[in-house]
Amino acid sequence: MGELYKRTHMCGELRGMNAGESVVLNGWVQKSRNLGGIIFCDLRDKTGIIQLIFDDSVPKELFESADKLRSEYVIGAKGVVRERTAKNEYMATGDVEVLVSEMTVYSEADTPPIYIKDDDNVDENLRLKYRYLDLRKHKMQRNLSFRHAVAKVTRDYFSEQGFTEVETPMLVKPTPEGARDYLVPSRVNPGGFYALPQSPQMYKQLLMAGGTDRYIQIVKCFRDEDLRADRQPEFTQIDLEMSFVDVDDVISVQEAYLKRVFSEVMGIDIVTPFPRYSYSEAMERFGSDKPDTRFGFELVRLNDEVRDCSFKVFSDAVASGGDVRGIKIDGGAERFSRKEIDKLQEMLKSYGAKGLAWIKIGEDGLSSSFGKFFTDAEMKGLTEKFYGKPGDVIFIVADKSNVVFDSLGFLRREIAGRLGLLDDKQYNLLWVVGFPLFEYNEEEGRYTAMHHPFTAPEPDDIGLLDTAPDKVRAKAYDIVLNGVELGGGSIRIHDRELQAKMFEAIGLTQEDAENKFGFLLEAFKYGVPPHGGLAYGMDRLVMLLLGEQSIREVIAFPKNQMAVCPVSGAPAEAPDEQLKELGIDVTANSDGGK
Ligand code: AMO
Ligand code: AMP
Repeated sequence: MGELYKRTHMCGELRGMNAGESVVLNGWVQKSRNLGGIIFCDLRDKTGIIQLIFDDSVPKELFESADKLRSEYVIGAKGVVRERTAKNEYMATGDVEVLVSEMTVYSEADTPPIYIKDDDNVDENLRLKYRYLDLRKHKMQRNLSFRHAVAKVTRDYFSEQGFTEVETPMLVKPTPEGARDYLVPSRVNPGGFYALPQSPQMYKQLLMAGGTDRYIQIVKCFRDEDLRADRQPEFTQIDLEMSFVDVDDVISVQEAYLKRVFSEVMGIDIVTPFPRYSYSEAMERFGSDKPDTRFGFELVRLNDEVRDCSFKVFSDAVASGGDVRGIKIDGGAERFSRKEIDKLQEMLKSYGAKGLAWIKIGEDGLSSSFGKFFTDAEMKGLTEKFYGKPGDVIFIVADKSNVVFDSLGFLRREIAGRLGLLDDKQYNLLWVVGFPLFEYNEEEGRYTAMHHPFTAPEPDDIGLLDTAPDKVRAKAYDIVLNGVELGGGSIRIHDRELQAKMFEAIGLTQEDAENKFGFLLEAFKYGVPPHGGLAYGMDRLVMLLLGEQSIREVIAFPKNQMAVCPVSGAPAEAPDEQLKELGIDVTANSDGGK
């Protein structure tokens, strides 16, 4: 192939003011067409597209090679910029074109399996398989650059605040709490396994014990969990920890950080401090510990109103310690047909709801799915609790409290989405604080740490650790953006006795605790500062700032729903030799997840 042309400009840079200049460009052919005597060729690089022209003023040989150009050929071109006679207002470079005098073809291309076009609507699996083609799209290059910009502001800001970026190990001790680990066998320690870190949690605490004072790391984390649009098996955290701090100190550093990110990469001035909701207020009002406050539809509790009613579904729920709650959708009576309500009810089954009761308020009276059990006056009483007015619809769920919260929490967002109320240009940042320290795990019949077992309890609640663990609040906080948990953290326990008590409360024997976390406990023997921190999901942050619906759009090479790398096909079977060396006997057959 021809010589390498030293480029003078990027394709997307050329403007009217460049007219008359000689330029050298490199890039991919977007498309090329011969209109008889004149060839129009769109040349693309990551900055944009410029129109190249080959006309009858060029040597015959050049014209003939230009005529052979096909989409995705990689070429170099030398020529002169000139004003276009017919300007294209839809292109940033639409005022100009380049009349080519020399060209070289670096490589030819087969017809690509996907179009290099932002809105090609092609199946995502195909996009992921040919990710290197997909990445040629303007949107994907924009997303990668944007992600880079977020990483850069992050490093700048935290450096200025006295944080040191430290790399923590990727081969760590398997951790029993939390999600499943990815395991890595150790050849030199047959039968021994490392885990890939789910987060650098224990190491960052050791860094505080080590006098690092303020730590930050943009770090890969690995969790073998079921995938969703906002989860990947390997993802990136912006992870940090600070010594000699309490909740407000951590929070104020984060607010200033997020303000800086919004201002530098989005050009948006966000208001600080962000609102803070206690966990119980978030649940009561929004049915979620990551409330989306861009719209209303807040939950209303009806326990007192229905406690003695004859509709068993409601009165039984209250009698058995559960809840009856509802949400009102303004002007929704017409919008939601019975058929549509049935579909919503079907969707709620996955949250454990056994039904979805409704009341529609009409101009001339009420209709509802359970009216026969209520007098008109009682029914009116219910609607008044919601300040209902003609045209509104009320949805009610009766069940165990967590089912009611989960169902209505989901429903309010689902309906807001259907009604077009999720404005992705509005950024509602908020803190949720005062989480319970523990949650009860029904399967295991024991309490587990809601955040992680290093999280400190509120000092006022320490007395409840033995008597009423479910009432103990944690010094934990989550940062939430538009209903997505962007990050979370806590003030940590730095007292060995309290830490031991905590392990006991989650059912770990002293021996278990020693086996699993002994190295951290030992470190705490030798002087450890009070400390706390937080980790953001960087993929989620970038996704939300870009208004993308999936973190896969902001990760260069994401895994698919089966945790497979669609480009390389990983995971794959390991060669027998290697397994033998590792002392591993494989009993399952891998089909690479395909
Ligand atoms: P946590 O487990 O809450 O906390 O994780 C912090 C943030 O990481 C993001 N995140 C994920 N993003 C993509 N895919 C995943 N599978 C995934 N899992 C988590 C979320 C989440 O809020 N060590 C603690 C932090 C601390 O206490 O300082 C931790 O890892 O945005
Ligand atoms: P039924 O008497 O079973 O036909 O139910 C009457 C109405 O109550 C229907 O709209 C059901 O969807 C609703 N319903 C049933 N169980 C529940 C529940 N646990 N919570 C809320 N509504 C329910």
